[in-house]
Amino acid sequence: MDKSLRKPVIAGNWKMNNTPEQTAALISEMKPLVAGADCEVVLCVPYIDIYAALSAAEGSNIKIGAENCHWAEKGAFTGEVSAQMLKAAGVPYVIIGHSERRQYFGETDETVRDRVRAALNAGLKVILCVGEILGERELGITAEVVRKQTKVALSGVTENELSNIIIAYEPVWAIGTGLTATPEQANEVCKIIRDLIAELYSKESADRFVIQYGGSMNDSNAADLLKQYDVDGGLIGGASLKADKFAAIVKAAC
Ligand code: 13P
Repeated sequence: MDKSLRKPVIAGNWKMNNTPEQTAALISEMKPLVAGADCEVVLCVPYIDIYAALSAAEGSNIKIGAENCHWAEKGAFTGEVSAQMLKAAGVPYVIIGHSERRQYFGETDETVRDRVRAALNAGLKVILCVGEILGERELGITAEVVRKQTKVALSGVTENELSNIIIAYEPVWAIGTGLTATPEQANEVCKIIRDLIAELYSKESADRFVIQYGGSMNDSNAADLLKQYDVDGGLIGGASLKADKFAAIVKAAC
């Protein structure tokens, strides 16, 4: 199967950055720089910035996403936001299982699975994050860790629903550290994920499945990473906060 048959997805993850006003300004700056890109362009923003982002991105090729959602439809979960609420607000994408949620907010493979279920039920597109910590890589158990995270998160997901899921392979040791996986390391793990999709579903679905790399991707290393056969895009933190850097990554993908 030809890699070019998978449309790359370049997604920014703003994390806890930008006020609504800053959101409007940054998206207005990005819009002309990414216009006409032959790949999917997504910006995942804090909940408080969603309306400003949707309004600033209107009429452009930039899609907006949230950075998390709860697994329940509604109820007594102070401080949480449901997938239905995001859908109703007009948000098409949501990140689930980011390593910062796993590391600082008690996210487990099982809660990731439940959030994925809720997001799919609400009709959202999911960017599911998986990745090993440094100690796991050093122990040589990266494949096991990533396969388990993926397997649990996808349990209960049907083959038809796979078209609404992207997986972002984000080695935790490469996030925000300036340390990037080499293109070969990134491709090796993205291939492990693709092989698992083939094992769990089918080769046809695996060939069409979009797998991103994330972890210190920037305007200088993006092209080499995105050239790899099994790397179909990027999930970008720091570099998605600067219009010119993010646009350069989008250009490298398209
Ligand atoms: P950085 O690009 O800042 O390393 O962040 C990666 C990331 O966590 C994207 O979700």
